[in-house]
Amino acid sequence: MSPVIERKKVKEMFSNIAPTYDLLNHSLSFGLDFYWRKRAVRLLFENSISSPVFLDIATGTGDVVLEIFRQSKFKINKSNVRVYGLDFAFPMLGIGKSKIVKRLIDCDFIQGDALSLPFQNASFDGIIISFGFRNFESRGEGLAEISRVIRPGGKIVILEFGNPVGIWGVGFNFYFKCILPMLGRIFSGHREAYSYLPATVSEFLSPDETKNLINQYNFEDVNVHSMTGGVVNIFVGTRT
Ligand SMILES: C[S@@+](CC[C@H](N)C(=O)[O-])C[C@H]1O[C@@H](n2cnc3c(N)ncnc32)[C@H](O)[C@@H]1O
Repeated sequence: MSPVIERKKVKEMFSNIAPTYDLLNHSLSFGLDFYWRKRAVRLLFENSISSPVFLDIATGTGDVVLEIFRQSKFKINKSNVRVYGLDFAFPMLGIGKSKIVKRLIDCDFIQGDALSLPFQNASFDGIIISFGFRNFESRGEGLAEISRVIRPGGKIVILEFGNPVGIWGVGFNFYFKCILPMLGRIFSGHREAYSYLPATVSEFLSPDETKNLINQYNFEDVNVHSMTGGVVNIFVGTRT
C-alpha cells in the first residue's frame, strides 16, 4: 500500500482495526503511548484559560479525551473543561464513546472529517491531534481548517511519530519496520494496517518541515518537543 492513501481507505482501515486498536497500541508501544499523550495534554493545558473548550481531532478511541479529563481534575479552575472528539471512523468513535460513558464523562463525540470541520470559526481555545495528522490526505487542508476553528491566541498541539537516528534509530527501526508489522498483522488480523504505520512515518515530514508547515497557517512560536530519543515529536504553536 502506498504511504499516502486517500481518506476513504484510511477510514476503512481504522474501522477494521478498531476492536483490537487499544490493545495493540498499548502493548506494541510497551505502554509508552500513555506517557506521550500525557505530555501532549500537559502542553495543551499549559497557560490555558480557565474553563477552556478543546477539540481532539482524529480522537479514535478517545484516549486523549480521557487524559484531558484526568488532568483537568488536578487543575484549579479547569474542572469546567469542555471537550469535543472528532473522527471519521465510526467504529473507533463507538469504542471511545463506551469508555467515556463508563467513566461518566460528559463529552461530545462527532463523526466528521478533519479536512472539513463541522464547527464555526474561532470555536476552540485549543486543538490537539495525536497520531492522526500524518494520516491526513492533505495536511495543508487540515491545518487551514484548524486555523479557522481555533480562536486567536488558541493553541495547537500535534503529537506524531518521528524518525530517530543513530544507533537508537537502527534498533528502533528494526522493531518498528520488522517486528511490529508482523505482530500487528497476527493480532489485528489486518494485512496492511501495521505496515502502513512505519511506511507513513518514513515518508512523513522532518520536524523542521512540520514546524514550517504549521507556521504557514497563522501559527507562531511553534516549538518541537522530542520524546523517547525522537520516536515521537510534539509540535506546539499559538494562533496569531
Ligand atoms: C492512529 S489513530 C489515533 C487515534 C488517537 N488519537 C490516539 O491517540 O490513539 C488515527 C485516527 O485518525 C483518524 N483520521 C485519519 N484521518 C482523518 C480525517 N481526515 N478526519 C477524521 N479522522 C481521521 C482515523 O480514523 C483514526 O481513528
